[in-house]
Amino acid sequence: MSADELDLENIEGVGPATKQKLVDGGIYNILDLAARSLSEISDILGGDTDKAGDLLNKARSYLVEKGILGKDFISATELYQQRKNVEKISTGSKNLDELLGGGVETGAITELYGEFGSGKTQICHTLSVMVQLPKDKGGLEAGALYIDTENTFRPERIAEIAEHRGLDPLKALERIVVARAYNSSHQELLLKEAGRHIESEKLKLLVVDSVVSHYRADFPGRGTLAERQQRLNAFIHQLLRMAEVYNIAVVVTNQVQASPDSFFGDPTRPVGGHVVAHMSTYRIYLRKSAKVRIARMVDSPYLPEREAIFMVSEKGIEDPPEEKKK
Ligand code: GTP
Ligand code: MG
Repeated sequence: MSADELDLENIEGVGPATKQKLVDGGIYNILDLAARSLSEISDILGGDTDKAGDLLNKARSYLVEKGILGKDFISATELYQQRKNVEKISTGSKNLDELLGGGVETGAITELYGEFGSGKTQICHTLSVMVQLPKDKGGLEAGALYIDTENTFRPERIAEIAEHRGLDPLKALERIVVARAYNSSHQELLLKEAGRHIESEKLKLLVVDSVVSHYRADFPGRGTLAERQQRLNAFIHQLLRMAEVYNIAVVVTNQVQASPDSFFGDPTRPVGGHVVAHMSTYRIYLRKSAKVRIARMVDSPYLPEREAIFMVSEKGIEDPPEEKKK
């Protein structure tokens, strides 16, 4: 949509004064408005929750009219059609793509969880390159935004993956916007600013690696557990709205600590990560095996629980050669 069509004043009830307040609060257009939470908009409007709710509903209705968002009530046939229009980004491994039903989806959150060294960050790096490829090579000819919370983003690794996948390494690096988050509040702030980059730089992938680490560090112990979950909950909700409103693929990682009781309990349950679990559309559990890595799809609404094998290589991640599969 054009900048004119997205102008906040297209929403009934938004005049120059309200628009200014919204812009001061970092909401530049109707997409940004629809992607924010009620409480944030209310804060920006000086605590007027009724007006905030009204504007939020009107923004969403406007986007439904323009065909950007799906209607609230639709027939199953329409839903089926809508789902067929979802775009996918190849992970670089055919096995993993198959597990995901074709690749990582736009309009949804895909959560990668597993122990340290299980390959979460390597998949995120590979996807940031894959999204740039032409559609017939599994990409969307678009860029990526990478929120790095653990200082594990490596441009050299991106260059290597790009080179081995037929892209100019320098051009590939240019199409990835990297933001280093220093704490949970900063991570939240970065997400608010992400909307502008997504539109102006044609990004189709948003990575948050890792989504929970700052929350674990900033809210340690039982006493702060409720606040941690509440803040993390708000963050994931924001991600989900952004996935939907901007039609981008959101990929988040979540480290699972192997606790002693996980030998007896279900090892695929992320410790303290239930909020992420409930809101992720796809959840992939990763683990190391002798030479390869194994991904398992957990709790997908559409896909059966299955496993896939991949390996880390100079191409990022890819299928292992036949003889390594055992
Ligand atoms: P945490 O962030 O610690 O939870 O781990 P992770 O799941 O993000 O692990 P990551 O994706 O960083 O995978 C690490 C594994 O990938 C390492 O054990 C290495 O075997 C492999 N790896 C990491 N970097 C490279 C690289 O540049 N080239 C190759 N070939 N392998 C790499
Ligand atoms: Mg990592």
